Amino acid sequence: MRDPADDSVVAALKAALGSAVLAGDDVPARNYNDWSTLPPLKPIAVVRPADEQGVATAMKICAAHGVPVVPQGGLTGLAGGATPVPGSVVISLERLTGIEEIDANSATMIVKSGTPLEVVQRAADDAGFFFALDLGARGTCTVGGNLSTNAGGNRVIRYGMMRDLVLGLEVVLPDGTLLKSLNKMIKNNAGYDLKQLFIGSEGTLGIVTRIVLRLHPRPACTSAAMCGLASFEDVLGLLASARRSLGPHLSAFEVMWPDYWSVATGRVPGVRSPLSGEHAFYVLVEAQGSDAVADPQKFESWLADCLEHGIVADVALAQSLADIKSFWATRDAASEFVQVLGPNISYDIGLSVSGMDNYARECRAELARRVPGSLALFYGHIADGNMHIVVCVRDAPQQPVSEVNAVVYDLVREHRGTVSAEHGIGVTKKSYLSYTRSPEELELMTTIKLALDPAGLLNPGKVLG
Ligand code: LAC
Ligand code: ZN
Repeated sequence: MRDPADDSVVAALKAALGSAVLAGDDVPARNYNDWSTLPPLKPIAVVRPADEQGVATAMKICAAHGVPVVPQGGLTGLAGGATPVPGSVVISLERLTGIEEIDANSATMIVKSGTPLEVVQRAADDAGFFFALDLGARGTCTVGGNLSTNAGGNRVIRYGMMRDLVLGLEVVLPDGTLLKSLNKMIKNNAGYDLKQLFIGSEGTLGIVTRIVLRLHPRPACTSAAMCGLASFEDVLGLLASARRSLGPHLSAFEVMWPDYWSVATGRVPGVRSPLSGEHAFYVLVEAQGSDAVADPQKFESWLADCLEHGIVADVALAQSLADIKSFWATRDAASEFVQVLGPNISYDIGLSVSGMDNYARECRAELARRVPGSLALFYGHIADGNMHIVVCVRDAPQQPVSEVNAVVYDLVREHRGTVSAEHGIGVTKKSYLSYTRSPEELELMTTIKLALDPAGLLNPGKVLG
């Protein structure tokens, strides 16, 4: 049955925003859910404002009607942060795209929040800069979504997470107020650093419309190698050696366990292993240099040294850009797992770097015992203390989500890790937030949420509540 309030909010939105509002049969199916495997849910309307004023107007109208609002970006989130809630209006940022300014002297870019990450990366490159955030969904995810989830990805080891790449923002608050805080200065201690409230709060405190991004110089050269290693001690040894020898040039250190490797290189179309033998661990190591002659030589001699000292058992050094791309394909393969494995459950836990392999062993053993028939793949941004796990039971009518969650998160709690290192809490990890955060921390989060959104209308039921 239709709620008459739905009709009145839709009528008010249409009166104010016209064809930016899609309701009833016009609501596109793509807006029913994100990449999380939650059941799709149709919102009462999707609003696609063309500018920040449109977002503010939509927000005000929904607030006046007491209707919940769910913000959506590129819909690549894995935790359900962008899935509609019953009776909600979706505000999609898909029309808020474009790069507005690149300021070479302050090394900043002002961009609208619906712009895809890859577009931002290219624009930075065209201007002689580098936008450092990178992750497999780069072609589809938006910088607004990256900001809202404080995305991490592949180059955190050198450049930090999205939080480290944002200097300012413009945001619509839950009551429809448009807050402009487009700071470009690296140093600004004038009162509370308000942007931090919106970075990583998963669209529960405001809808970001514009962002001031921090750019880095475009690297003069990139070197990459795929290494096969015999033990986790060697992985840690390689990391320590890379940090010492490559210093700040070290730009990625991605570790893949053999179960991951065999699916990525054996079953994902177009992905192949650059190494011939089988190894206990595979590490993709990358360095970005400033001297196109000396830095690649330094990288190569460092690798030769690691081989000589037996830290790595085998190594393939990228000889071309095509090699670098094909090495990264083994890691980007993770975003193809749904196509290859079917429905699966994915995790982005955080642990101490040295405890990673013990965790993987315990988790694998527990899963074999408690979830028969499960396949578990381990990989991740190990230097950042961030491990991914993909678990699936092939041909199961439904994935045993709560059984697998119990194994994964109980062990995270035991290991004093975090239930989310980079994807966020959304809906899927809400019941486990207390495994990682104290009652006092949770209470302060609730206080902040209530202060900004007392009616609880912005992305309700996400992260908290
Ligand atoms: C990755 C994303 C899924 O690292 O976080 O592949
Ligand atoms: Zn990741």
